[in-house]
Amino acid sequence: MSISKKNIFKQIQEIKTQAEQQTDQIKNQSDLERFKFEFLTRKSRVNQIMRSLKDLKSQDRKAAGQAANQLKNFLQKKYKQLGKQISFDKNLHIDITAPGCYYQMGHLHLTTQAIREIMKIFEKIGFYRVRYPEVEWDWYAFGALNFPEEHPARDEWETFFIDEQSVHPKLGKRILTPHTSSGQVREMQSGRLPIRMMNISKCPRRQLDVSHLLIHHQFEGLVVDKGINLKHLKGVINYFVKQYFGQARDFRIRPYDFLFTEPSFEVDVSCAACNKRGCKLCKQGWLEIGGCGMVHPKVLKNGGIDPSQYTGFAFGWGVERNKIMQEGINIKDIRLLYQNDLNFLEQF
Ligand code: PHE
Repeated sequence: MSISKKNIFKQIQEIKTQAEQQTDQIKNQSDLERFKFEFLTRKSRVNQIMRSLKDLKSQDRKAAGQAANQLKNFLQKKYKQLGKQISFDKNLHIDITAPGCYYQMGHLHLTTQAIREIMKIFEKIGFYRVRYPEVEWDWYAFGALNFPEEHPARDEWETFFIDEQSVHPKLGKRILTPHTSSGQVREMQSGRLPIRMMNISKCPRRQLDVSHLLIHHQFEGLVVDKGINLKHLKGVINYFVKQYFGQARDFRIRPYDFLFTEPSFEVDVSCAACNKRGCKLCKQGWLEIGGCGMVHPKVLKNGGIDPSQYTGFAFGWGVERNKIMQEGINIKDIRLLYQNDLNFLEQF
């Protein structure tokens, strides 16, 4: 291909315009690399022009050579300049005059908060925290707690039975324990006396509605010592109610029938919204906390404790249920706690 001076000048002009157009788009290191690749490497068009100079007529070579060199200098200068501009941009990231960013902080889930509050209250009067298996044998959850074999009372606990084939010769079927009372006999078997157990764990049940969850948490208190009686149980309930719900709240116990406590009761706390007058949040002024009673002598025996020397009381209540009964919490559907809706969770 024959090459002319005119053609070379035209090309030089084109390259210059292209380079100028591109400088506006160079924002970061990789844009700059692209610029270098296109205009300054050995294979770039400028270098091709340089190489073709020798084919020009000798009288044209000087002027064309000068113009090509000028273009090369121009491109090199541009490249340096752009490099500086980019590092200047980088410094902007630590511009101390720029407005700050707001990082959102997470917080503990309401249930975890409740568990910690509960434990703090009971720790002050000598309770210690324990944990027992959530995948449990029938015997610890029912048998040892005085439920006769195949007794219909097992139905009340809406239990999940698992591993049908593996039935333990003594402990029976494997289940997901529906209540923390399964920890009572396990704690007695640990040999620790006196007992002041606080067993907190997850309890699955086949129930789901505004006031029930498939998995809820329970906290179970168990006290076993010489001379423990109903007055001690009432004292502990009174202490908890005042600490957790506030000095203005009252409680009452109603007779009930659990197989593992005798006598048995259910505990109610006065409704904060209507102050015992009765409203749409409560049952005639009262809200139910959960069950309690004096440990049945047979249960003590099953745990290897002599009921003629030792007596005890127990209570097992729902963490979530007690939480929503606190004043000002105002959650009407317990399922909201586990829907992972940040708009809801962030309120607590
Ligand atoms: N475990 C019982 C329940 O889940 C509550 C309870 C615990 C009752 C301890 C009496 C004593 O309903």
